[in-house]
Amino acid sequence: MKIRNYQDNDFVSLIDLLRSCNLYNPQYDKREMIQRKSGADSDSIILAVQGTQIVGCIFFIYDPWSSFIYHLGVVPEHQNKGIATALLKEAEARLYKRGTNPVTLFVIKENKHGFNFFKKRGYGGEFLTWCFEKQEKKQDK
Ligand SMILES: CC(C)(COP(=O)(O)OP(=O)(O)OC[C@H]1O[C@@H](n2cnc3c(N)ncnc32)[C@H](O)[C@@H]1OP(=O)(O)O)[C@@H](O)C(=O)NCCC(=O)NCCS
Repeated sequence: MKIRNYQDNDFVSLIDLLRSCNLYNPQYDKREMIQRKSGADSDSIILAVQGTQIVGCIFFIYDPWSSFIYHLGVVPEHQNKGIATALLKEAEARLYKRGTNPVTLFVIKENKHGFNFFKKRGYGGEFLTWCFEKQEKKQDK
């Protein structure tokens, strides 16, 4: 298993991966948006690759005040082999090297497996928050 940065020609495989582990979000996971993210910070989308297959990914958003991790996913047939643990360690190492504290992530309440995965790897806190979003409207300009 190798770990490397996302490139634009990985897009179709990345979307397949995100769909396979229920992380695909059509609002965010558009080619142009992903390309803009990796263009702005080429280290911020990390892939796990087995042979020619993309088997796992993790996204991060860096900020020196607090950084965020999103989209940690591994294709079901490659789970329980340590791939997500390796991806999480790589993302954390990149963020800590730049200088950030803490690293924050979101897990939905129903995702017991994801919840326990992160708890076991040192994540904690009891924040009961809603995730609100607002799209820019042209007339707001
Ligand atoms: C949560 C998720 C990312 C974990 O991925 P994963 O690659 O299976 O995780 P790992 O293999 O690193 O760890 C899972 C278990 O496998 C075990 N494991 C690790 N290496 C192993 C190996 N070589 N052989 C056997 N088992 C192993 C670990 O002990 C671990 O168990 P633990 O959490 O009780 O310690 C994956 O289940 C997933 O994609 N879920 C759907 C998406 C999701 O919910 N993401 C998180 C919220 S964004």
